[in-house]
Amino acid sequence: MIKDPYRNYAGIYDRLFDSMNKGLKLVGIRMFRPTKGMNILDVGCGTGSHLELYQRYKCNLFGIDLSPSMLNVARERLGDSAQLDLGDANEMPYEDDKFDLVISMLSLHEMSPDTRSEVLNEIKRVLKSDGRLLLIDFHPGPYEPLQGWVSKIVIFLSELAAGREHFKNYRQFMATRGIAPLLSQHQMETEKQSILAGGTFTVCLAFDRK
Ligand SMILES: C[S@@+](CC[C@H](N)C(=O)[O-])C[C@H]1O[C@@H](n2cnc3c(N)ncnc32)[C@H](O)[C@@H]1O
Repeated sequence: MIKDPYRNYAGIYDRLFDSMNKGLKLVGIRMFRPTKGMNILDVGCGTGSHLELYQRYKCNLFGIDLSPSMLNVARERLGDSAQLDLGDANEMPYEDDKFDLVISMLSLHEMSPDTRSEVLNEIKRVLKSDGRLLLIDFHPGPYEPLQGWVSKIVIFLSELAAGREHFKNYRQFMATRGIAPLLSQHQMETEKQSILAGGTFTVCLAFDRK
């Protein structure tokens, strides 16, 4: 059985990253304002802090994650307000054309290239034809002199600390220029994009060209 790579971090993940990441999530909410009754799925939902920000919009919330320890934190946080599923997002337990919005933050970069591609195909399958995909992940620069380079070094060191497989996938993601080429390879179009933190993060809203 594969070990849960987040088993030692799930309890402290939010303390380490939540304040840093919240600003990026709010940029995403401004890009696509949810409305009451929408179906929203978080792919790689982790501790549920991203879904928590969508609670106030009275949407139907769903999250899927591979890590039991991260999902336990999410279950404590969200209770019955979200359906949380343990599983690999390359094969999701949702029907076709279900979601108005799929969000995914800092998850794609840590997947192998094959899994990343399968996950994007799954996202396309479960998105409604007029649905939107909101991705937040690392951006390959160019980096601004101070903020960008400091942020890039912090990211590089945390990815290195996350383990060999994680680091290898991160390096491959960056070498292939992150989110933008991935979207076009999957016939998806960028509608809005913000590059933040001195060029180290991107918040990207996309739709399927189907
Ligand atoms: C860096 S954490 C980010 C968590 C959350 N999205 C956030 O921004 O706080 C990445 C998450 O993606 C999940 N993940 C990675 N690969 C996955 C896959 N193939 N299917 C489902 N979840 C996956 C991990 O278990 C982890 O919880």
